[in-house]
Amino acid sequence: MEKINIAVLISGNGTNLQALIDAERDALLKSGTLTLAVSDRPGAYGLERAKKAGIPAFAVERESFEETLEALLAKHKIGLIVLAGFLRILSPGFAKRWEGRVINIHPSLIPAFCGQGYYGLRVHEAVLERGVKWTGATVHYVNAVPDGGAILLQKPVAVLPCDTAQSLQQRVQREAEWELLPQAAELVCQKLAEAKK
Ligand code: GRF
Repeated sequence: MEKINIAVLISGNGTNLQALIDAERDALLKSGTLTLAVSDRPGAYGLERAKKAGIPAFAVERESFEETLEALLAKHKIGLIVLAGFLRILSPGFAKRWEGRVINIHPSLIPAFCGQGYYGLRVHEAVLERGVKWTGATVHYVNAVPDGGAILLQKPVAVLPCDTAQSLQQRVQREAEWELLPQAAELVCQKLAEAKK
């Protein structure tokens, strides 16, 4: 079966991108191939991770972001976009055009602690403030509503009494995000490849 070309959009460190790179190396991700990495921030360390893995990587200007992105996606024949710590919200028009072909990882159990304003450490601060005993991560399809698309995979992670927002963020990444995102990417690539046959 023909593999689906994957573009990964990032804004920062890119540990989730690294999890995808490792999963492709270990053939856990086998129905898709990492083809392109794009950042909305020139200094994002994830771009270095992509280059080290031999994946073409670009920082794209914020002003004309979606226009430039669409051109890169077409040039690299991208079939699936993975948002992996990507902080910019895509326009409703873009989300509509790419419906069913964009997924995102969010560091909480949606519908808790998600939507406008819930990103990065803020999510984990809110979790601690509310005092919930379980949090986790969710991979979902992207639609026009922030964190509002259909849920693909979720994994719970316990909140410990000694947790700080930082320690919780790290545990959610290690125990849930880095495992879920490659799994979800493989699932969706399988589905898209099947539909192409
Ligand atoms: C992750 O926790 C992700 O869920 C959130 O931003 C963080 C990005 O981490 N949206 P990284 O850039 O993949 O290391």
